[in-house]
Amino acid sequence: MSDTTTDRFQSLFQNSVPKEVQNRLIFSYQMARSTFFTAQQRALPLFELLFTGRNRIRNKEFLDKAHISYDELVFLLKKDSENISHGVYPISVLKTESAYRTLSRFPKIVWDGIKISNRRHQKKNQEFSPKARRDLADYPEYFQRNFHFQTDGYLSAESAELYEHQVEILFSGTADAMRRLILPPMKKYLNSRPDLKKIRILELGAGTGSLSRFVKLTFPELELTVTDISESYLRKVQNHLKGCKKVNFLRADAADQPFSNESFDLVFSCFLFHELPMGVRQKVLRESLRVLKPGGWCGMVDSLQLGDKPHLDFGLESFPKDFHEPFYKNYTMHPMEKMWSDASFEKLELDFGFFSKMVCGLKTIAS
Ligand SMILES: C[S@@+](CC[C@H](N)C(=O)[O-])C[C@H]1O[C@@H](n2cnc3c(N)ncnc32)[C@H](O)[C@@H]1O
Repeated sequence: MSDTTTDRFQSLFQNSVPKEVQNRLIFSYQMARSTFFTAQQRALPLFELLFTGRNRIRNKEFLDKAHISYDELVFLLKKDSENISHGVYPISVLKTESAYRTLSRFPKIVWDGIKISNRRHQKKNQEFSPKARRDLADYPEYFQRNFHFQTDGYLSAESAELYEHQVEILFSGTADAMRRLILPPMKKYLNSRPDLKKIRILELGAGTGSLSRFVKLTFPELELTVTDISESYLRKVQNHLKGCKKVNFLRADAADQPFSNESFDLVFSCFLFHELPMGVRQKVLRESLRVLKPGGWCGMVDSLQLGDKPHLDFGLESFPKDFHEPFYKNYTMHPMEKMWSDASFEKLELDFGFFSKMVCGLKTIAS
């Protein structure tokens, strides 16, 4: 469908279908999408067994625990569907690539899964292609690794091509809904601002830009600066946001931001902090505070932390064992809301959805 046809379909849907029916249709679509990615998640261990002989098919104990988290998945998708049908963000956030396109990438995902299995088995986390290896010196030491054991870490176009698909498989098709947890509080803050036209927004560690796109679709008139430390991922996000107006792209280290003091009204990130050593996490918050104007808003979505939802702690403990995430355990033990208040953000708000949490707060006018 062309963009104009899609726009017409959207406005017809939103103006003529009763809200309750919209809600049910959207929720059904989201559950179907989740099933589609869950099926791929269940298939991957079978390919791993077939090609490597390693049996990582989940045992009954794990599946029983995972079953508990299913209610949380449904709750998140319900809440996300309601936000769409009530216009908190537009229905166009659901327009992603076709199922055919996703499935045609699946063989590459399987192949990468086998390489990931080998790295996990051999405990190798610094294995790079010659091109990625040449670029390593441009990155901080903690970043020079195969995060998640993925091929080339965050350092190649091939890795950027598979990233979103792999994350959706990991989270049973809920990653986008988790990312969108940040939109309602962001919107509430922006609604309180009289000078919307002058607002400047900064995104840190944007990855391949799923959330950047949702932010642009929700606030098309606002200026968004999208940053990431990875050259390859930044190129991918540029492609992803092709055609969007008022977007700037910049390769930047979130712990050493190339912006002057008090130059943004809003700073946010998604799934960034859990990948950083504690010292870098603190620097990123200090830098965010520095570049924010007084009264500015700072928010993040990231993984749950221990104790946030005790019945889901099992997932936080198993994740870093299966995937190379060297700073994750430390992340889960240090509540981000405490770091937010230690950094002197005030009026903190928290929200949770499936395996993620949202934290946001305001920079005090006096700081
Ligand atoms: C798990 S990915 C999250 C990407 C994206 N925000 C998302 O929602 O999927 C982490 C991202 O943080 C980036 N990153 C890691 N350290 C960074 C730093 N110091 N400054 C900026 N980006 C960083 C990585 O390149 C990667 O794109």
